[in-house]
This record gives sequence, structure tokens and C-alpha cells, in this order.
Amino acid sequence: MIFSRVKPLDAILDVAAKKSLERTLGAFQLMLFGIGCVIGTGIFVLTAAGAQKAGPGLMLAFAIAGAICIVAALCYAEIAAMIPVSGSAYTYTYATMGELLAWTVGWALILEYAVAASAVSVGWSGYFAGTILNEFLGIQLPAWLSAGPLILGGAPGGLINLPALVIALLVTWLLMVGTRESAIFNTILVAIKVTALTVFLFLTLPAVELQRFNPFLPAGMFGGFGSGVGAVGAAATIFFAYVGFDAVSTAAEETKNPQRNVPIGLVGSLLFCTVFYILVAAGAIGTIGGQPIMGPGGIPFPAGSEELARQCALPQFSQMLVCSDEALAHVLRQIGFSEVGNMLGIAAFVALPSVILVLLFAQTRIFFVMSRDGLLPEKLSRVHPRWKTPYVVTMITGAVVAVGAAFLPVGQLADISNGGTLFAFMMVAIAVMVLRRTAPEVKRSFRTPALWLVGPATIAGCIFLFLNLPFLAMLVLPVWGAIGLVVYFGYSRSHSLLGKGIVEIHEQDTAGIEPDIPGLADRGRD
Ligand code: ALA
Repeated sequence: MIFSRVKPLDAILDVAAKKSLERTLGAFQLMLFGIGCVIGTGIFVLTAAGAQKAGPGLMLAFAIAGAICIVAALCYAEIAAMIPVSGSAYTYTYATMGELLAWTVGWALILEYAVAASAVSVGWSGYFAGTILNEFLGIQLPAWLSAGPLILGGAPGGLINLPALVIALLVTWLLMVGTRESAIFNTILVAIKVTALTVFLFLTLPAVELQRFNPFLPAGMFGGFGSGVGAVGAAATIFFAYVGFDAVSTAAEETKNPQRNVPIGLVGSLLFCTVFYILVAAGAIGTIGGQPIMGPGGIPFPAGSEELARQCALPQFSQMLVCSDEALAHVLRQIGFSEVGNMLGIAAFVALPSVILVLLFAQTRIFFVMSRDGLLPEKLSRVHPRWKTPYVVTMITGAVVAVGAAFLPVGQLADISNGGTLFAFMMVAIAVMVLRRTAPEVKRSFRTPALWLVGPATIAGCIFLFLNLPFLAMLVLPVWGAIGLVVYFGYSRSHSLLGKGIVEIHEQDTAGIEPDIPGLADRGRD
């Protein structure tokens, strides 16, 4: 039963063939798009949580997570170019391993996209409160409005993270009325982010003091199962800094000479980010230090925990990198470049909402496709007559994202999101290998090089990172999965269109909404 109800690949490919988008993208545009989706809260904010887990070993953590993302990206590219329809990993699984597993992937993607959108909202709120309110307007947001409750790892006196809640709702509203990120807008934001990080490197790297890197691995390489610390524990968290490249792989079918340009674009953007991230970590830690605050037994206090929040409220620790909500701006202020630090804060303030937009957009489109397949109630995929957007599902998703952002700390949200993402990446790698066996004749405009090495490496890498998440974050995936199974057997299985013998595969909705990634549809025109 597990592998029953496989969506016929031929029907999907027929639809894709009709769609046949023009091939307009070159490797460089693909890279720009990738960098636009990827650089966000991970580097601007989670650097602090990463340092709390690994100390200077954070640099190694960026390398490990980057390497796993690069092999995963190579798998994504093949299947995205081969099955270029909406729904991403969910659709790929539906076409290879059947409805039940596709459902679990779709369900896990909720963790990837919706929870990630909450995480980026919280990341944005740190820069908004620190740079815009505090530095520029001289307003100190009361503790109860600037973080979630202490018991959830917020801050002493915290109750609700109001800015995070507001930005999540604002972006939801923008999506509901049909806002898309255009290619030009994406390029501007990439330029802002890359400039901010480059300036950061120019100011910090010359001031690096080598003794700051000693000890390099204060919490060891492996912190132990479920501890979520050590270099590998940090890798499992800052994996978040690379999430989003899967959106780029969906551009494979719009790429000129995809066999050459897709790997250059995808791997290029990930390599670029990896090198950049490692240097940024070196600049931050080498200047103001990045040793963790140690708890009992010489083990770092868990990032996003009540204990750490209490330590960070103490005057002797409050200025440490690991305690900052706006890590990179904080580093620049500490080394005497307050103005530049504020500029960097503005860059994050301006650029992070677009990352939320891409993530929320991806989430609503996955829901949309699942509901169109009958696995979720049809009402969810209702399209607004004027805005031409799936407004019901967008509204519900946005509300949930806003609640998550209002009460949970960024590190925990990122860890939970990573659990879902790692599962989806693993399933994609399996799907690519299955299709090579079951549908070898289908044309692939991009073939993953050395798939029988790259595929297993992706699967192993995803399992490895998953097992190094903090125990609670790890637990979320099976618990969430179990809830998903209840929904599947209670509702979806009996409502599934495929189960009723109806094979409906749409690409363009009749109401005209395009379930693609923002920025791609208008790319050729800009
Ligand atoms: N990679 C994205 C970020 O770091 C999700 O914000």
C-alpha cells in the first residue's frame, strides 16, 4: 500500500511539455536568483546560535552544511528539469513513490517553508528592533513586546515578538494581493545583501586576532546524539542558511543549455555562499570572539533555551556574539564601526522580507497543489476573483507563520524547519535514483553527474545532519508526521482525486495563477 497510487509520469510530462517555457536564463542569472533566495537570516542572525553550539568551529559547520547542500542541489536539478511542474518535492514523490509518501513529503515541506518563514520573521525583528527602533529612533521596545516568553527560550520578561508577528502578516497580505518579486527587484536585493556582507569582510578580516580561534572546537566535533552542539550540531542548525536553493532548481527548465548552466548556477551560488559564510564567520569570531557560554559539565547552554536567555541577560555576557539578536551589526558596532553596523542593519531590514515572501509563496503553492489533488479540502485552493491568488490558503498559512514567529526563538524555528527540509531533500535524492531505473528513456535536460555517488551522499548527508539536530527538534518531524498520517487516513485518502481514478495534472490554473516561484515568470521580460 505504501507505494500505491503513483501519479502517471507520462501525464505529468505531457502537461510540462505543453507549458514549455522559453529558455532565457544563463548561469549568471541563475546564480543571482539562487543567492537572492538563500542569503538571509541564516548568516545575518543564526551566526550567533551557531557560535553558541560550535564556537570558532562554526566555520567548519558552514563547510559541512554547504557540501551537503551542493550534492542535494545536483539531485534537485535533474528532477526539476525533468518534471517541471509545480509542487516541487511533493510532485516528484507522487510520480515515483506514490501518494502516501508524497503526502508525507508535502506535510514535511510545511515545516520547511512555513516554519522557515517564521524563523526569518524573527530574524528580521532583531534587526528592526535593534537598528531601526533603537539606533535610529531611540525607541527601546519593551521586553514583553520584543521576544517570546522565557520558558520558550525568548527573553526575561518576554511575552510576544510583535515585530515578527507584524512582518509575517504584512508579507502575507502582500502575497494575497498578488505581489511577486521581480527579477530586477531580486537583483537589487542581492546587490544590497552582498555589498553589506562584503563591507563586513573588509572591516573585520584585517582586524582578526588569531588567538580568538583558540580553542577551535570548544564543544568538540560531535556533541553527542540529540545534544545539538559541536561543529556538526552547528552544521545542522546553520544548514538553514542554505535553504531556498531548491527554489532555484525549479528554474532548470527555463535555463539555456541546462546541462552546463544549471550546475554552474546552482553549485556556483551555493559555493559562493559557502565561501562567503565561512569568511563572515571568521570575521565575526576573529574580532569579538565567538566562544559559547558554557553550562554544567563544560557543555554549551542550548541555543534558544531559557538557561541561555538568562545568562545573556547578565551584564558580563550581554555583549557576546552568541547573545546578539543582530549578530553582524553587533560585531561592527563592537569594533568601532557603529555607523556601518547600522547600515548593515538596514540592509537586513530591507532584504529579509523578500526571503519571507519566497518561503511563504512556496508554502502556499505546495498547499495549493495538494488541495487540487484532493488531499486537502478544495476550499483551500479557492482563487480570489480579483487578486488571482489562492487567498484562503495564503491567509491561513500566514496566520500560522505569524503565531510561530510571535512566540518561538529563531534558532528553534530554524532547527524545526531543517528537520522537514532534510527529509524532503532525502526523498528527492531517492526519487531521482528511482526514476533513473523506472524511466530511463525520458529525456533529462540535466543529468546529475555521478548520480550513484551523489544520490547516496545526499541521503547519508541528510540523515547525518538530522541526527545532529537537538533532540526536541528531531522529535518534531515524527510527531508532525504522525499527525499527518492521521489527516491522511482520516480525510485525504478518501478524497484523493487519483484514488477516485481521476488523473488531473494542471500547471496553469484556470483562474490564471501561476504556481511558480516569484520572479521567474517575469524574468525574461526584465
Ligand atoms: N536561507 C534562508 C535564510 O537564511 C532561508 O534566511
